[in-house]
Amino acid sequence: MQHTFLMVKPDGVRRQLIGNIVRRFENRGFVLVGAKMMTISREQAERHYGQHKEKPFFGELVDFITSGPVFAMIWRGDNLIEVSRIMMGKTNPLEAAPGTIRGDFATYVGENVIHGSDSPESAERELENFFSTDELLAAGVLSSATDR
Ligand code: TYD
Repeated sequence: MQHTFLMVKPDGVRRQLIGNIVRRFENRGFVLVGAKMMTISREQAERHYGQHKEKPFFGELVDFITSGPVFAMIWRGDNLIEVSRIMMGKTNPLEAAPGTIRGDFATYVGENVIHGSDSPESAERELENFFSTDELLAAGVLSSATDR
């Protein structure tokens, strides 16, 4: 059983794709255990995309991801991280297969509709960047001290 962080990016929220995207993961058998609409701070965005700090597209990436509300989600399921990456499609929508989220809804790498963690380590780090300890407890990602 895994938890992961998925986020409908500002382009997806603007285009009213939240329902379609949530439905795909529910249909696949995954469980939505936490979610919120939020506008992320530049600091949070820079932390989220820290690995790309030196890349030429970093500034635009941070501008884009802070340009409007995102829909941040916590999902649970077996083999969730691997399957969710397949369902999202390749980072560059031009290379994403039809039937994947990016392959169905996007054409431009700078606005590719969805983010999903690429490993258990990034899922943990990203969930902590977007959700409070209370929210992670409520979603069952963390267990409370009394349960241990
Ligand atoms: P990356 O972590 O490589 O991909 P993914 O989102 O699939 O995990 O890149 C993060 C985001 O950076 C990506 O979703 C879109 C943006 N990006 C660009 O704008 N231009 C690029 O050339 C690349 C590689 C990514």
